[in-house]
Amino acid sequence: MGVSFKPERLRRYRDLARLLWKYGRSDLVKTVGLDEALVGEVLPTDGAAAEAEQLADDLETMGPTFVKLGQLLSTRADVLPAPYVEALTRLQDRVAPVPVKQVVDVVESELAMPLLVAFREFDETPLAAASLGQVHRALLPDGAVVAVKVQRPGVREEIAEDLAALRDVAEFLDAHTDWGRRPPRESPARGVPAQPSSTSSTTASRRRNLTTLARNPRVVRTGSSCRCRSKG
Ligand SMILES: Nc1ncnc2c1ncn2[C@@H]1O[C@H](COP(=O)(O)OP(=O)(O)O)[C@@H](O)[C@H]1O
Ligand SMILES: [Mg+2]
Repeated sequence: MGVSFKPERLRRYRDLARLLWKYGRSDLVKTVGLDEALVGEVLPTDGAAAEAEQLADDLETMGPTFVKLGQLLSTRADVLPAPYVEALTRLQDRVAPVPVKQVVDVVESELAMPLLVAFREFDETPLAAASLGQVHRALLPDGAVVAVKVQRPGVREEIAEDLAALRDVAEFLDAHTDWGRRPPRESPARGVPAQPSSTSSTTASRRRNLTTLARNPRVVRTGSSCRCRSKG
C-alpha cells in the first residue's frame, strides 16, 4: 500500500520492535512484520519488563528522540499510571550527560572563542542533562551568573533519522490496521486537571536549577548561537 521499510533504518526498526515487544505490544510488532527484524534475538516474554524505571532506562538508551517522548509521557498523568509518570520525570533533567570535553568543543566552536574568554567560570558538572542538551552554570566576564544550554553533538541528524523510522512504522499501522486508523479519542486533555503534572514537573526542575542562577532569566545575545545558548 505504498508503505515500505528502508533497509538503512533496520537498526531503528529493530529498537522500536524490541521496545514494543518488551512493553506488551508484540501484536503490533507482528502486524507490522517487524518480528522478522528480531529473528535470532532472545526475546523477553511479551510485556515481561513493564517496570516504570526500566521503561525510563530503555528510553534513555534509545537516545534523544525517545528521551523527549518519555518527557512528553511524563506529562500525561491522564494516560499513564502514577509510577510511570514519576519514573519518566527523571528524563526532564537527569539523563547521562555528554562528557565535558565535548561540551567545551561545542561551546568554543559555536562562540568562536576559547571557553575562558567567553566565561570567567564554567561549571564542569551540568545542572541538568536532558534530551536535546544540557545546562551548565557559568559566569560571564562581567561576573553575571548564566545558564549555558549546550546542544548534544549530532542530535539533529539522529532525531531526523529516528523520526523517519517512526513515521515509516506509523504509516504502515495507519494503512494496515484498524488500530492505526482509529481516530484520536475525544480530547482526553479535557479530563486533565487545570495544572497538569507535566507543567509542574518541568517547572519544578527548572526552578530547582534556577535557584543557583539569576532570578529573572534573560537571553544573553552576545553569548548565544544555535547550539549554545546563555541565559542570565
Ligand atoms: N535557563 C535555565 N535555567 C536553569 N535550568 C534550566 C534552564 N533551561 C533549562 N534548564 C534545565 O535543563 C533541563 C533541560 O532543559 P530543556 O530546555 O527542557 O531541554 P530538553 O529539550 O533537552 O529537555 C530542564 O528540565 C531544566 O531542569
Ligand atoms: Mg525538557
